[in-house]
Amino acid sequence: MALKILLVDKDEEWLFAAKEYFEKLLYQTTLVSNGKDAQVALYNEKFFAVVMNAFVQNHSGVQVLKFIKSNYPSQNVIMITEIEEGVDKEDQLSVEKLRKMGATEAIAKPFEMDDLKGLLEGHQSVGDMVSSIPRRKSLGPEEEVDLGDEKFTSVKIDEFYTSQPVLFDIYIKLRSNRYIKILHAGDALSKERLDKYRNEKNVEYLYFEKKDLFKFVKFNSYFAKKVIANEKVGGQKKVKLLQNVSEKFLEQTFHEGLKPQIIDQGKEIAESVFELVTKSEDLHKVFKSYSDFDPNAYTHAYLVTLFSTSIIKQFEWQSKTTIECTALACLFHDIGKMKLDPDVAKMKVDDMNDEQLLEYKKHPEYGLELIDGNPLINNSVKQIILQHHEHFDGTGFPFNKRGSKILMLSNIVCLADNFVHIVQDEEKLPVEALKVLLSRREQLSWYNSRIVECLIKVFVDPDKIMKDNHLPSNSRLVSNKKVS
Ligand SMILES: [Fe+2]
Ligand SMILES: [Fe+2]
Repeated sequence: MALKILLVDKDEEWLFAAKEYFEKLLYQTTLVSNGKDAQVALYNEKFFAVVMNAFVQNHSGVQVLKFIKSNYPSQNVIMITEIEEGVDKEDQLSVEKLRKMGATEAIAKPFEMDDLKGLLEGHQSVGDMVSSIPRRKSLGPEEEVDLGDEKFTSVKIDEFYTSQPVLFDIYIKLRSNRYIKILHAGDALSKERLDKYRNEKNVEYLYFEKKDLFKFVKFNSYFAKKVIANEKVGGQKKVKLLQNVSEKFLEQTFHEGLKPQIIDQGKEIAESVFELVTKSEDLHKVFKSYSDFDPNAYTHAYLVTLFSTSIIKQFEWQSKTTIECTALACLFHDIGKMKLDPDVAKMKVDDMNDEQLLEYKKHPEYGLELIDGNPLINNSVKQIILQHHEHFDGTGFPFNKRGSKILMLSNIVCLADNFVHIVQDEEKLPVEALKVLLSRREQLSWYNSRIVECLIKVFVDPDKIMKDNHLPSNSRLVSNKKVS
């Protein structure tokens, strides 16, 4: 069943253009040109969202918004406002004012239809998305298209899950800027067809448009949650699945910025990370052989998330809140790099000259600037990001904080960050990276020693700690309560 939207605007030309645009995206639309008709339509039908110009007449948009808030409080309402010439700023009906009045979202003219679409999609549940895809009797035809590479993102074909109808179009790449659409939204990819692409055509990656990242993340995050809750599925598969979602989530964040709906998705992923590290008993085995040397920044942030939260899990004071909070901070820990000169952002620290290094060292503060005013992100998350390069011995940056002046959680992220750098940059299995880390004596003073001990514990079979008392008797690893 298509999702229905009620479009309310006095500008008929705009209404028809919007109708055409949204019907192409498989929404069903109802058009009205005044407030009174909008109320009647709401009385007669149920809508996924109302998209309404605040300046309609015969009941103004604001009056209708009030009517909706008192009669249908859960109704999504996207208000459109227009900046009026010659009216003082304070007297304008601004986006902020409309949000305060209860609009789910608000947008000011002029805007692109794609922006409006983004606002609508931000409020869809997975159920809404699935119910809005068309049901087809047969597969749509394959179509060759010329579209810029920069519009696409890819997933490994081996990591693509079949049987469900896809929520958006899927392509394979022919050559640069040329793609074949192999699946239309609503088609399902059978195992046979997938095998054919993989084995006969040697396809390694499937592509989709970046504008569909939100749907991809939303759906796969939902799917990952189910898989993570399933005790029969091994840790390896869970770790990989969450990696896929997290990487695409980060790509989307870097592509679109920190919109409220994106932060909501981040929180959902943080929740899944919590479930993963607290419920999967075989993670110590997975970590020993885990090999993902992809140096890409998105993989990096995910691995830092995974190891930081696994370290916290070893502490007696760990809780759902600390783990989720740290997971969210880890996903965003290097977000300040968005503000760096792109050349510096790409460089390895060892290759930087003094000036570049100075610029690089600003990224924790830039990160804070990007999220500071954001009420959806709490202060602990902000502090972890700001302090993730501070060292226990005072040699870190940006403030050369030392010892207990540094948040314990930041110091954990700092260790996980450097540890993951060894894994990725030096292409080591995590157990080997651990040995390398422990051999770099001068760097060990960067961290609170309890944190280093907890990183070691991440790799140890929890039952073994209790059975083999081969650890030095003064180690807290022996005296701590059983880790599970
Ligand atoms: Fe960093
Ligand atoms: Fe990092």
